[in-house]
Amino acid sequence: MKERVFNFNPGPATLPLTVLEKAKEELLNYRGDGLSILEMSHRSKTFDTVISNAVTSVKKVMDIDETYSVMFLQGGATAQFAAIPLNLAIHGKPALYINTGSWSKKAIAEAKKLNIEYKVIASSEDTNFNYIPKSFSIDENSSYLHITSNNTIFGTQWQDYPDTGNIPLVADMSSDFYCRRFNINKFGVIYAGAQKNAGPAGITIAIVRNDLLERSHDDIPSLLNYKIYAEQNSLYNTPNCFGIYIVGMVMDWILKQGGIDKVEEVNKKKAEILYNTIDSSEFFKPTANKDSRSIMNVTFRLPNEDLEKKFVAEATEANLVGLKGHRSVGGIRASIYNAMPVSGVETLITFMKDFESQNS
Ligand SMILES: Cc1ncc(COP(=O)(O)O)c(C=O)c1O
Repeated sequence: MKERVFNFNPGPATLPLTVLEKAKEELLNYRGDGLSILEMSHRSKTFDTVISNAVTSVKKVMDIDETYSVMFLQGGATAQFAAIPLNLAIHGKPALYINTGSWSKKAIAEAKKLNIEYKVIASSEDTNFNYIPKSFSIDENSSYLHITSNNTIFGTQWQDYPDTGNIPLVADMSSDFYCRRFNINKFGVIYAGAQKNAGPAGITIAIVRNDLLERSHDDIPSLLNYKIYAEQNSLYNTPNCFGIYIVGMVMDWILKQGGIDKVEEVNKKKAEILYNTIDSSEFFKPTANKDSRSIMNVTFRLPNEDLEKKFVAEATEANLVGLKGHRSVGGIRASIYNAMPVSGVETLITFMKDFESQNS
């Protein structure tokens, strides 16, 4: 059997080992209840504690107060692409979108399908999404502004979030959820598929400012209605109980690391040493502009596609897995989420340097 590898997959992705070990230890008999969390009623007292603790920990990591609701939803971030316009669009006030890649496009496509009024106010498609647009204006008469905080495929990330005044800022944080400190008060809604930085696939975290819940009308399908999920503590229907349990433990893991500032410091260090390696080489070429680089998904190219294939194959042999770039763009992508230890990035760097000297 293979030993545990360094997992650079973009998602589902690496999780903290201590969380997996705890889940394993508790799998058959959850804290003495005599049954597994997988077998337990979502209406039981025990699960009530699990979900309340998970909500508390999500809030605690980022100092989020009672003016926001934390919800655990299903359907991935993709379901939120539809939920956002359904819950937040106001007739006569266009929804604004900034297009920074494939996931932004998918979010925009759902707004279009739902026939809501929308405008794309900026895009980086002109140079194949290698930067985050800086100049755009936000009309006061808008329902919300939607951005993709981190572009998993293109390796770009918003460095500073835009000031939107009274217009709710909505961010898809799927691939950089809780990778660094941010001020929740800048946002109306943030959402994230958990499978990159927060837990397993099949669970989505949404954090919604409570005053916006008034926009959720009764004619929205219940499964996508924020007001219903907020009022019923994510228990309107059967939730992903196991996923919620894992997300709670991942949040507690962040707190145990020393909190979000410590995790951010480590993330920046990992990204810095990896980008330094790329920048100081003639062999590896970064794809994202320097001022827009992601600290979560580091994308780069080798001199040709044959070498990229060889790189991925030899890296896998060396227990460094998941480095192939997204099929739509090719190249190499190292996803270095919170749970990737510094030693994983250091091992990758050593491998890259050896590969360069053997192949250039
Ligand atoms: C930024 C971003 N948004 C949305 C999605 C889609 O998420 P899901 O598969 O959970 O629907 C992804 C998936 O990789 C993503 O990276």
